[in-house]
Amino acid sequence: MIIAVDGPTASGKGTVAAGLAKLYGLKRLDTGALYRAVGLAVLDTGGDPGDEAAAVAAARALDLAAIDETRIRSSAAGVAASQVAALSVVRAALVDAQRAFAADPAGAVLDGRDIGTVICPDATVKLFVTASLEARTERRLKELHARGEDISFDTLKAQIAERDARDLNRSDAPLRQAADAHLLDTTDLSIEAAVEAARRIVEAACSRHGASS
Ligand code: C5P
Repeated sequence: MIIAVDGPTASGKGTVAAGLAKLYGLKRLDTGALYRAVGLAVLDTGGDPGDEAAAVAAARALDLAAIDETRIRSSAAGVAASQVAALSVVRAALVDAQRAFAADPAGAVLDGRDIGTVICPDATVKLFVTASLEARTERRLKELHARGEDISFDTLKAQIAERDARDLNRSDAPLRQAADAHLLDTTDLSIEAAVEAARRIVEAACSRHGASS
């Protein structure tokens, strides 16, 4: 079983993906972490994340096992991630690692922006997780404040809106709900309620699969 979970930043897709992976005993890949790690690697060398040569070199050198889970969560790494992610050569350099992860015979859960549309178009179940810009800003603000980052609601809201626009409008693999993805709006849902709603979608989809095969 491959579960594809896409959606904008801080929509709850990571929480839903982690919850489903736990529930079904599947491995999970947070593909945003790959783009964040590439963006951060460019920043660490003093480079510009929009510079194609620097970004593709960082993408090709990326070691999934060596990603610093703490440092990639900064708002600066998030912004850099959305810049490197707009470059087709960077996306191409990261495709194989994502598909190899999804090819595990035991199945997998992958979350990102283009899992259901580009990386795993034949996924067993696809979810598109969303929430209002205000709710997403509030959630991300709590995370960043917990890490000690000093950023205001309005600055973060503008930053997230800018990232959304970049993700939605890029020419290669823009953020889109796949035609066969199930929409899950988590604006008014708790973590538990969001995972439970996702579980119901997965189970309904699997029983339809079972009935049609
Ligand atoms: O999900 P997260 O906010 O960590 O992703 C960071 C950035 O990585 C996104 O804004 C997006 O530009 C990029 N991304 C992407 N495709 C994916 C996952 C993330 O373009 N599959």
